[in-house]
Amino acid sequence: MIQDEILRRRTFAIISHPDAGKTTLTEKLLYNGGVIHEAGEVKGKHGTKAATSDWMALEQQRGISITSSVMQFDYKGLRVNLLDTPGHKDFSEDTYRTLVAADSAVMLIDVAKGVEDRTKKLYEVCRYRNIPIFTFINKCDREGKAPLELIDEIETTLKMACWPVTWPVGLGGLFFGLYHRTRKIIYPYSGPHDDQDTTPIKVDDLMSPELDKRIRPEVIENLREEIALIDGTLGEFDHQAFLDGKLSPATFGSAKQDFGVDVFLDLFKDWAPGPAPRKTKSDVVVNPLDSDFTGFVFKMQANMDRRHRDRVAFIRICSGKFERGMKVQHMRLDREVRLAFSSQFVAQDRETVDEAYAGDIVGVNDTGNFQIGDTITTGKKILFEDIPKFPPELFARLSVTDAMKRTKLQKGVRQLSEEGAIQLFIDPYVGAQDPIIGVVGELQFEVLIYRLQDEYGLDVKLIKLPYKVARWPKDKNGKPTRELKGNLQIFNDAAENPVVLLEQEWDLNWAQKENPDIEFATSITMERYKL
Ligand code: G4P
Repeated sequence: MIQDEILRRRTFAIISHPDAGKTTLTEKLLYNGGVIHEAGEVKGKHGTKAATSDWMALEQQRGISITSSVMQFDYKGLRVNLLDTPGHKDFSEDTYRTLVAADSAVMLIDVAKGVEDRTKKLYEVCRYRNIPIFTFINKCDREGKAPLELIDEIETTLKMACWPVTWPVGLGGLFFGLYHRTRKIIYPYSGPHDDQDTTPIKVDDLMSPELDKRIRPEVIENLREEIALIDGTLGEFDHQAFLDGKLSPATFGSAKQDFGVDVFLDLFKDWAPGPAPRKTKSDVVVNPLDSDFTGFVFKMQANMDRRHRDRVAFIRICSGKFERGMKVQHMRLDREVRLAFSSQFVAQDRETVDEAYAGDIVGVNDTGNFQIGDTITTGKKILFEDIPKFPPELFARLSVTDAMKRTKLQKGVRQLSEEGAIQLFIDPYVGAQDPIIGVVGELQFEVLIYRLQDEYGLDVKLIKLPYKVARWPKDKNGKPTRELKGNLQIFNDAAENPVVLLEQEWDLNWAQKENPDIEFATSITMERYKL
């Protein structure tokens, strides 16, 4: 029974650039999964929930979603967990960290825009664990780039091969529908203002003159040429290459018109992998079907209920079964803790869960026990691999006007950096009283100011700094080093490792030229990572 539950889990996240249609696709996935009954409910529900605390007032005021974390729905026997990856103003390190909890990802691309900046970064994070990636090319009801050009762009920019499962029959004004290469079916599209017959057309032969009767000559001719080219170049789908993150099955559609979303979901059902085994710091690999419960914290959400000054630790279950109130070994603290919990399944409107299984995410109420990266287990003593730190791109100096409160400020920022809310840097000449803060998304600054005010009673001044790049210099032996040529500004991180802060990517090339033997790593724990 436990095994069956685990085997039907599918946990994924959507990666995309703002405005590619993630919210719209999420809504349509939940709609197709029977969770919501009309579009717009995701935002609507959220709005209702947001009214319940001050913390959430900040969200509501900003029109953003800091707290939604996971949406669960069933699809044809599967229990699907869709992890929320904050995208607009609420883009933060959490967005990256969430991907560490996913077993696969859907890369959503706007047909007119192709591979955009944010998508590229999120893709790199997926690369870190080589998780399988589906590609959904959205907005086919609009004009866009030629599909072959787009596939080529994905392959060359991301260095990942694509295997189109569906192919658009025309685009924009000429969009007739989707050709499904493996099913050999054309699904005609009917826009909101036309009444095309949408009965699927079985296509035994793309050359069939019957198709010429239904589809405009330039559109069907184009389709025939493109499919001949694709079929001629691509072999069978290599499922292993997909599981290894090297090959992405691509589908087209329109999230807004709910067209192609069901086809995508079927593909997801057939191909998306269940909970993956997880590496630990020792030789042990945790298998999701292991009977012991194990999990790790990938995200901390502070202050959701201000009266209790609570935090919620979001835990990805890696093996076994979670039960309400269970006792687990907390590896870092080396003691037993009880998992009192509250879980937020926004779309399902469920506040609590009694049980959950490997692949699921649970939100556990925390009074200060948990940090990002913590391992919990009921069995063997293991430690899951560290969650990488992601290089910040925005920097600011913090200060308090009241000199008496400087120590409090230092304490506050240190605690918040341990929690993973920000990254902390110290200018060795200035000292810790004026800390430098590094973040990935603008909102992290706002949340920081809010929390320093709310939790520590500090009115801080934040001055943005012009840095954009942080790199950890290491010598030939991989040891952190301060021996750098070229008058570079060297700061300390929270663990007193040397960090170079630079104003632009170009400066990094220059620094590298000046110091050919030095590796400018993107993080102290994550050499392989190349944002
Ligand atoms: P995001 O979460 O990725 O940022 O994107 P979101 O879903 O909010 O979509 C961004 C815009 O793109 C929205 O338009 C949305 O309607 C539109 N969109 C999403 N999918 C499709 C699609 O398949 N076809 C077309 N034509 N448009 C799509 P908006 O003008 O900002 O909002 P709205 O007034 O349309 O709701």
